[in-house]
Amino acid sequence: MSNILCEFPYNDHKHIALVKLNRPKVLNALSTDLMRELVDKLFELDDNPEVRVIILTGNDRAFAAGADIAQMVEATPIDQINNNRFRSWQQLAQITKPIIAAVNGYALGGGCELAMHCDFIIAGDSAKFGQPEIKIGTTPGAGGTQRLTRAIGKSKAMMLAMTGEMIEAKQALDWGLVAKVVPSTTLMQETYETAKNIANKAPVAIKLIKESVNKAFEMSLSDGVDFERRNFYLTFSSSDQKEGMRAFLEKRDPEYKGN
Ligand code: HXC
Repeated sequence: MSNILCEFPYNDHKHIALVKLNRPKVLNALSTDLMRELVDKLFELDDNPEVRVIILTGNDRAFAAGADIAQMVEATPIDQINNNRFRSWQQLAQITKPIIAAVNGYALGGGCELAMHCDFIIAGDSAKFGQPEIKIGTTPGAGGTQRLTRAIGKSKAMMLAMTGEMIEAKQALDWGLVAKVVPSTTLMQETYETAKNIANKAPVAIKLIKESVNKAFEMSLSDGVDFERRNFYLTFSSSDQKEGMRAFLEKRDPEYKGN
């Protein structure tokens, strides 16, 4: 059985791909194989000109309950170096198209880190987030101490990582970890509506926004603003910028070509 499922389920919108984590018996524990399959699939979608937005999800019980503990329990540091566990995680950052995490159930440890690698998170009201690695004698390892701290601040990140406690979706919203909370039963529909909104925008400008926002974590404010301005200038070499502004002035809907 494949660890990853990919569908184009939205007949009225061919530009949206849905990727599902598919190890339900172990709450989508993130084995190295799963991570490799996920990254391969994301690269394939990133290269497919038809695809404009990717939704990443799990199932009702779990987005993902972390890295696969059974796979790690007896590992040595050298095993981990030799199996390149983190290469897939580093490759996630190379995806240029928007990825929305649609989270129901548990997003714990590596599962929370995977959701935070996405561009934003929409959570069902059943979602639970946490970095519980401390409960099994270790620490977050795929960016949890860094991305969670940037998302919710030092004090709350310290508390979550040091206690291993989970927070509910509403709390995650109040703390700025997730963009939106919706009823769990309508999570996929609501996420689709947001994906559709983005897929109807100029695709190159969307990629440049992703790049510019991500630079906010890497650069000083003045360097980041300079980077943003250059991306802004760059959009003026696209037909989509001309189309978007002309359509506004002509009071019609734009038709973007992605160039
Ligand atoms: C392997 C896991 C797993 C995991 C759950 N399972 N989480 N297997 N790795 N991370 C398996 C269980 O062993 C069990 O298998 C089945 O999934 C159902 O889980 P239960 O525990 O029976 O379910 P429940 O009682 O509802 O509890 C749910 C839960 C709990 C609270 C989410 O499963 C849990 O605490 N899981 C571990 C969470 C965690 O510590 N995550 C961090 C991992 S370290 P069987 O065969 O018994 O049915 C990490 C580091 C990342 O993520 C570093 C970067 C790579």
